[in-house]
Amino acid sequence: MAGHHIHNLYDIDIKISLYVNISIMSELDQIMEAMRAAAEPTRLRILVLCAAGDVTVTELVRVMGQSQPRISRHLKVLSSAGLLTRTPEGSWVFYRLVSSGPLAATARQLVDLAPEGDEVLNRDRERLARIKLERAEEAALYFNQNARYWDELRTMHVDDAQVEAAVLDLMPRAGIQNLLDVGTGTGRMLEVLGDRINHGQGIDISREMLAVARTHLEQAGLKHCQVRHANLAQLPFPYDSFDAVTVHQVLHFLDDPAQAIQMIAQVMMPDGHLLIVDFAPHELEELRREHKHRRLGFRDDEVEAWCEAAGLKPIRTRRLPGNPLTVTIWLAQKDDLAMTYVPPPTLRERART
Ligand SMILES: C[S@@+](CC[C@H](N)C(=O)[O-])C[C@H]1O[C@@H](n2cnc3c(N)ncnc32)[C@H](O)[C@@H]1O
Repeated sequence: MAGHHIHNLYDIDIKISLYVNISIMSELDQIMEAMRAAAEPTRLRILVLCAAGDVTVTELVRVMGQSQPRISRHLKVLSSAGLLTRTPEGSWVFYRLVSSGPLAATARQLVDLAPEGDEVLNRDRERLARIKLERAEEAALYFNQNARYWDELRTMHVDDAQVEAAVLDLMPRAGIQNLLDVGTGTGRMLEVLGDRINHGQGIDISREMLAVARTHLEQAGLKHCQVRHANLAQLPFPYDSFDAVTVHQVLHFLDDPAQAIQMIAQVMMPDGHLLIVDFAPHELEELRREHKHRRLGFRDDEVEAWCEAAGLKPIRTRRLPGNPLTVTIWLAQKDDLAMTYVPPPTLRERART
């Protein structure tokens, strides 16, 4: 009985001391705690890698050649110190350098302190790039193998006719001069919007998909639409080229959807519309295993935050409930005063000038 009593008191004690710790920690304390967390070789390497995009524990284990429990412990220290954000998604967790809040500047500065030509850091970056490339190649292979059957595959998820009707309803009725369809696949979005646009341009990384798209566009007589091979991370168009962009069922394959939206926003004209179609958050892990999805859907607030960070104002959201997958359509418009995004100089770049 007495033992039970003491156990309870002990619990209360811990809760109170944790609460007091968090609530009275000054900004200076937080910065010092963050610096302490980063002052360890593996953790500094992890921070540098997480500054370049979303990274999973498995990827870090492969890059560092250390055991999963060890890497997880380091990640825990960095996340608790507020230097990394942790986004769980199904059985995966994505880590990334914190980009807002009181520690964002400290995190960036710690990463900028890492010497540019450091051999270990360069090797880490190369390994991570290789792992990401392997994954991209696997995805490309998957698309290549499925190119001809893609039209059938996509009907497995949700009623396409409903989605296409909503796309037509949300996009401007007339006046679109130049439409870009990112990750055009079989060119379906160009076909759907074909009679509303003066010119349509589709891009995709899969040449097989593009072959199917070309056949479709020819059959539909859409001479004002064309497709070309390109990666959305390096769009081969000048800034301010398109007054409308569609990204239909592409974001969930990407490593860094936020960056993709930044890239897309750059080639959009002021007042131009961006329409994103993707899944609402779901738990179908098999889409990762069998269909190479990286993200299990997106929350409205994350897509809206990515748009806003890219100078696009979210203007409408439409949800098309389905079983088991719900489709969401987000429409955003580029600020008419939006300057084409130019990343701010890093501390090191500033020091050099
Ligand atoms: C699920 S399909 C959707 C195709 C089409 N938007 C549709 O809804 O019918 C995804 C497409 O995105 C393309 N894709 C994936 N990553 C890409 C990238 N980094 N750059 C360009 N296209 C990409 C794939 O090759 C594939 O054709």
